[in-house]
Amino acid sequence: MRNLVAGNWKSNKLMGEALEWMNGMGPWLAQNHGVRVMAAVPAPYLAVCAEKAPEGLEVLAQNVSAEGFGAHTGEFTAEMLKSCGVAGALVGHSERRARFSDTDAAVAAKVDALLDAGLVVVFCCGETLQERESGRAEDVVLQQLQSGVLRLGAERMDRVVVAYEPVWAIGTGKTATSGQAQEMHACIRKWLDEAFGAEVAQRVPLLYGGSCKASNAAELFSQTDIDGGLIGGASLDPHDFQGVLEGHPGLNR
Ligand code: PGA
Repeated sequence: MRNLVAGNWKSNKLMGEALEWMNGMGPWLAQNHGVRVMAAVPAPYLAVCAEKAPEGLEVLAQNVSAEGFGAHTGEFTAEMLKSCGVAGALVGHSERRARFSDTDAAVAAKVDALLDAGLVVVFCCGETLQERESGRAEDVVLQQLQSGVLRLGAERMDRVVVAYEPVWAIGTGKTATSGQAQEMHACIRKWLDEAFGAEVAQRVPLLYGGSCKASNAAELFSQTDIDGGLIGGASLDPHDFQGVLEGHPGLNR
């Protein structure tokens, strides 16, 4: 199923608030038919959230080690995530690329580690404002995809989700217009088609992220190549997050 909406809490919430959120989503999720729902929670809460998650919610990590087991103090591996019941992880979020040394090579290694463990990859890509203004947005995004996922065969793509998040729209309140977002999504879909064939291109969910909220979700999600969203600020409160989910045309009640 391509319909997918994922929350990204980033570094927010205390433990009790994380569990309240899980409880707050339960009744809505029990009525949900047609959209896959995920939440990327802070690392300390992963195991508990995965255990307490209501039916119909998949818990994601916001990061993973590029390495396997070993002397890597402070890192957590994809196998550890799997053993905690975590479904997968975000990889290559622009906040990590810009501030925490997630180079293209590190991002690619993280993608491989997650797929080797049988987990889902939510691969984030997106251009800065300067890159957009200089007309390089598509080149930048396709370059990120090339170094992050091109080497994967078509079968390895079945657990990959692509999230297009223009850096200038993240946390700024400045959303890409539905036209701008659709244009980039169509470009990504075309690239997937050329790289892996039509079947993969039609199967991979393409999410939009960047100041997506209840008031603009329906318009964004109605675009042909936008299958859902990666939601930061508007995912922190279950009510707001449900407002975003309600905008998904794939909901079937
Ligand atoms: P935002 O964040 O919705 O708060 O803009 C999106 C993201 O960074 O995933």
